[in-house]
Amino acid sequence: MPVHILITGASGGLGASLARRYARPGMILSLWGRDTARLEATAAQCRKHGAIVRLRTVDLQDTDAALKALRDEDDALAVDIAIFNAGLSDIRPPDALSEDPAHVLALCTVNFTTPAVLATEISHRMIKREIGRIALIGSTAAFHDLPFATGYSGSKAGLARFATALAGHARRYGVSVLLVSPGYIDTAMSRRLSGSRPLLISADRAASKIVRAIAQGRAHLLFPWPFHVVRGIEMITPRWIQQRLLARVKVSQKPR
Ligand SMILES: NC(=O)c1ccc[n+]([C@@H]2O[C@H](COP(=O)([O-])OP(=O)(O)OC[C@H]3O[C@@H](n4cnc5c(N)ncnc54)[C@H](OP(=O)(O)O)[C@@H]3O)[C@@H](O)[C@H]2O)c1
Repeated sequence: MPVHILITGASGGLGASLARRYARPGMILSLWGRDTARLEATAAQCRKHGAIVRLRTVDLQDTDAALKALRDEDDALAVDIAIFNAGLSDIRPPDALSEDPAHVLALCTVNFTTPAVLATEISHRMIKREIGRIALIGSTAAFHDLPFATGYSGSKAGLARFATALAGHARRYGVSVLLVSPGYIDTAMSRRLSGSRPLLISADRAASKIVRAIAQGRAHLLFPWPFHVVRGIEMITPRWIQQRLLARVKVSQKPR
């Protein structure tokens, strides 16, 4: 039986690496993105390795349209593995008093609202079938009060709680839900940041870890490993101390 895998944000970065990692005969890949040319480039690489590829241009800022697309996708062929990977990042310009509310709306919609809505729909369908795997790509930013990225860290924190809550429910019906919390991955998203990207890993390496964790039916994948230590320290450090330390961090980004 062929395996049907849906990946959002497959037009580049981690999503494209995940698609290539799954590409082989017997795999049907439904790849979503906005940039058709880059989506086609990922598809061509996957077809070379023997996968059947279907492309869909979906803007995740339109949650209703994305939900309809997911229903169409799953009605046409039941999805076995759904990876909600697409994401947006943004940080407050150093001279601004706050982030742009319009950017925060986009971040919250693409990083939290739409993936939560889509994962709810596909979990319902998978639970009825008593089989399926879902992965939601969060970030280690979810665990920290980033004063320069309130929209990003807040949207990823919402996604993290949603993922673990859904995992607890869906597990009883044979459906696994994986929360992925990566540190820096070498993609266009992190390349926009000025300054160092500690413990940076390649998108291909990140994809291998994620594919393995999905196959194992795990509930949480946090990498690279030193972030487990950072998380442990964060859990025992009073919030006011964390916030004082984070207030000193200087980050800026190049324009899109
Ligand atoms: N890179 C890192 O250091 C890092 C660290 C932690 C977590 N993450 C997470 O990893 C995931 C993948 O990010 P990445 O690093 O691969 O970033 P990326 O290279 O910027 O790719 C982001 C992907 O998301 C898609 N996307 C963005 N806005 C969208 C929208 N409105 N509708 C549909 N698709 C949209 C993009 O599609 P188009 O280009 O076609 O618009 C692209 O395929 C994200 O959830 C990100 O938050 C990344």
